Amino acid sequence: MLEIKGLTKTFSGFTAVDNASLIVKKGDIHGVIGPNGAGKSTLFNLITGHLIADTGEVRLHDKRLTGLAPHAVVRRGLGRSFQRISVFPRMTVWENVQIALVAKDQQEFCFWKPLVSQNEQIARLLETVRLEDEAQVVAGELSYGRQKQLELALALAGEPHVLLLDEPTAGMSPRETEDSILLITRIVKDRGVTLLFTEHDMNMVFGIANRITVLHHGAVIASDSPDAVRENSSVQEVYLGRPTH
Ligand SMILES: Nc1ncnc2c1ncn2[C@@H]1O[C@H](COP(=O)(O)OP(=O)(O)OP(=O)(O)O)[C@@H](O)[C@H]1O
Ligand SMILES: [Mg+2]
Repeated sequence: MLEIKGLTKTFSGFTAVDNASLIVKKGDIHGVIGPNGAGKSTLFNLITGHLIADTGEVRLHDKRLTGLAPHAVVRRGLGRSFQRISVFPRMTVWENVQIALVAKDQQEFCFWKPLVSQNEQIARLLETVRLEDEAQVVAGELSYGRQKQLELALALAGEPHVLLLDEPTAGMSPRETEDSILLITRIVKDRGVTLLFTEHDMNMVFGIANRITVLHHGAVIASDSPDAVRENSSVQEVYLGRPTH
């Protein structure tokens, strides 16, 4: 579904992503892990067109994404959330979702699609992320965890085939983290969305991913099943710094 081939990105001579290649298959829940500064967010920004790669390419459904602007990448079926919150803090939850839908509808109009009213779509998305009771709350007043839920609704508004989530549970309490993991896995399974995510919480990664890629100094040192990654000696040495049991 998503193929990343030989991506490299340097910032003033510093290589943040180094010839990275990986394949994300349809229906995968694919985690990208690596220490702080390993290049995870940079890799995501290269995939979504927020950064331009020095070399390499990204293909979605076997079509080249490389060189497309972020909005064009979204139109091809790739949704994302950011490591830092990116909702409109002074607008209500409802208005935030409305804007995401308007942005999407400006880009595509299909007369054969059943006409579902926008209000209905907003209500459904809020229900999906369990924010139906907060519809009229100003987004900036939501708890951090709930703002992340709203971000998820905004990403889902584009009806993505592949969803990229950069540290979806960062900054959450253990309770929020658990709720959020359940919510994300339910949504991707229900909607048949393929998920590529980064996360520092290893319990979460090994708990939900069926595929894990490990980045170290921008390079992919492993991309395999969770068991194989756990057993991988370079991952143990380089990333974990010690053998695992
Ligand atoms: N715009 C930029 N200009 C210069 N250096 C950058 C830029 N963006 C990222 N870097 C550097 O590239 C490296 C990779 O950063 P990146 O944010 O991709 O790491 P990360 O794996 O997402 O880290 P974290 O786990 O802390 O989120 C870091 O050393 C960072 O300082
Ligand atoms: Mg990051």
